[in-house]
Parts: sequence; C-alpha cells; structure tokens
Amino acid sequence: MKQKILVAGGTGYIGSHTTVELQNAGYEVVIIDDLSNSNIEVLDGIEKITGKRPAFIQLDLKDKAGTLKALQAHPDIKGIILFAASKAVGESVQKPLLYYRNNIETLLNLLDLMPEFGVEGIVFSSSCTVYGQPDPEYLPVTENAPIKPAMSPYGNTKQINEEIIRDTIHAGAPFKSIILRYFNPIGAHPSAEIGELPLGVPQNLIPYLTQTAMGIRPELSVFGDDYDTPDGSCIRDYIHVVDLAKAHVIAMDRMLNNKTEENIEIFNLGTGTGVSVLELIHAFEAATGVEVPYKIVGRREGDIEKVWANPEHANKVLGWKTEESLTDTLASAWKWQLKLRERGIM
Ligand code: WQD
Repeated sequence: MKQKILVAGGTGYIGSHTTVELQNAGYEVVIIDDLSNSNIEVLDGIEKITGKRPAFIQLDLKDKAGTLKALQAHPDIKGIILFAASKAVGESVQKPLLYYRNNIETLLNLLDLMPEFGVEGIVFSSSCTVYGQPDPEYLPVTENAPIKPAMSPYGNTKQINEEIIRDTIHAGAPFKSIILRYFNPIGAHPSAEIGELPLGVPQNLIPYLTQTAMGIRPELSVFGDDYDTPDGSCIRDYIHVVDLAKAHVIAMDRMLNNKTEENIEIFNLGTGTGVSVLELIHAFEAATGVEVPYKIVGRREGDIEKVWANPEHANKVLGWKTEESLTDTLASAWKWQLKLRERGIM
C-alpha cells in the first residue's frame, strides 16, 4: 500500500526535487503550495521525470480552515514535509512581520491538525543559518554547535520553528519529527525538467551566476573579498539539490517505518567541504567552459563569513552522504539555465 506524503511548498525548488525522489521511492505525493514564489508548470516537469503527476492543492497554509479541508480531502496522509516558507534573508530584514507570520503560522496550523488525521511524522526544512557564524573551534559545524542569535528574521523563524516542534513533541504530541538543516542547495535535476527559478532578480549566488553566464546580467557582483578566508571571499557548503532531496526520503522512511526510537532528531545536510565564492566562479568556468564576468564590491549586510558542515551524523545515522561532485552540480545548474533559454523563459 503506497504511503501518502504531503509536500507543503512542493512546487518550489527543493520541494519539487523532493517530490520526484519521493515518487521514485514509491510514495504517493500531494502538493500544497500557494504559488507565491513558484509556478504551476513545475507539476509538468515532475510528471515528465517520473510519469506521475502529484495531486495539487493551491492553498496558503496560513488559512487554517482551508488546511483542514485539504487534510479532509486526503485523510490518509502519513507524513508531511514542510518547505513552504518565505526565504530571502535580505527581504526578511525589510519585512519581519510577513516572515514571522508566514513561516510560523504555517507550522502551527499543521502541527495543530496532524493528530486529528493520524499523521505520524513531519520533516522540517531548516537551515544552517541557525548556527550564525560558528566560532573557529566549531568549524566544520556539527549539530551540537551553539545556536547563536539569528542574524535575520528569516534565520530567527527557523530557530523558533525548531523550538516549537521540539516543545510540541516533548509535550507528548503523537508524531515524530526530523529537522534537516540545509547548507547551500544548488544545481538542478539532471533532466533539466525542474530547477531553481527565482522570480525577479536572484538573491542567491548560483542563479545570479548562471544568468550572468547566459548574458542576462552584465556581471556578477562578489560581495566582498576582505574576509578572513584564503582568497578573501565568503565560504559556504554547496550541496546538490538532488542529494538534499534524497535525504528527505530517508528521513521520512526512518519515521514512518519505525527505524528510530527517537521522537525528534536533527541532521546537518552538507558535503563537508567549504568552497569560496571565487573558487565557485572558477569551478563553474572549468565545468562549463563559459566565462563569468564579475567584479568585487562591498560586503552584503548579514552575510556569514564562513560556514560548512560536518555531515558525519547524517552519514552514520541516516546512511546518507552527498554523491554529486561540485563540477557535476555546477554543470547541472548550467544545463538548467540553457533549458530555460531554449524554452524562451529567460
Ligand atoms: C552565498 C554566497 C554571498 C549573491 C541563504 C540563506 C540560506 C539558504 C541559501 C534558504 C555569500 C555571495 C551571493 C551574489 C555574492 N536559503 N553572493 N553575489 O546567503 O549563504 O544563504 O540562501 O534555504 O538559509 O541564508 O546564500 O547564495 O545568497 O550567498 O557574492 O550576487 O555568495 O555573499 O557569501 P547564503 P547566497
């Protein structure tokens, strides 16, 4: 009997790639998304890859009555993966109330309704931003690294949501949770049928870089080369989005099929290797043969200087590790950008 999973935010970048991997693993998927930051055509891409079109409900999960109706329409949902959230660090500084309401109310509604429908587990999409700038002795960063005061309302909503989940489960909620702290997801499905499609000017490095390589943007601005790093630019842990998606399937299986005694677990999802912005640009050029014009500009407010994962906990306990090389990951991002051009999308 196929287990049914609700992917909240499933037409988004990570949600769509996770839907593909869930379907590949034999799960039935229902997507709820308000399409505020994604396109309904993503469903076509998913169907082209797997041959299965997920059920879809357009809904803002802040609408509790609407969420109740959605769950009543699918009373056999066994697990939930919560991606749906506003996620632009800079925007969150400008619009804190929008971020607190959207990111927290969504979680509260789902946690409230899960017991009524016998939902057994929730995977929560968290972020390495909860660590802030780890002190040198905590790099590479493990799950036990101190949680520092958030540097943005976005990061704070991730910390608050983790605490809400922890407290709800400690109060005896009849479900489990696995919290996944992502580092920097990049790249696209090898088919190039789905990928990252930010609306407007990209905030994140890779979509801005590939649009520059395509000539859509005149040049890439590198936000600072005066950091305390080997080449002066910031260091991150860039993980292929498909590797990241596969970890969600393992986490869901772990909860739904009683592969853990724990009611709540936390895992860092990264490659374990730190890469600087300048190294990434040169790696992209080597992987694709395409030059990326760039200039060094001032630092971006709120940027962490250097953070990368120690993924040993996930490697050992989940039996998961990243498989894609940085070269292949960057090549997949470029293949996706070429496909967008081929389709006349940008
Ligand atoms: C990466 C590096 C920039 C753009 C954020 C969130 C994180 C996750 C991913 C949601 C930084 C530099 C960037 C550009 C640049 N979001 N950069 N020029 O800030 O590490 O993480 O997005 O899940 O939670 O915090 O990602 O891609 O914005 O930046 O030089 O045009 O690239 O300074 O060093 P970030 P990013």
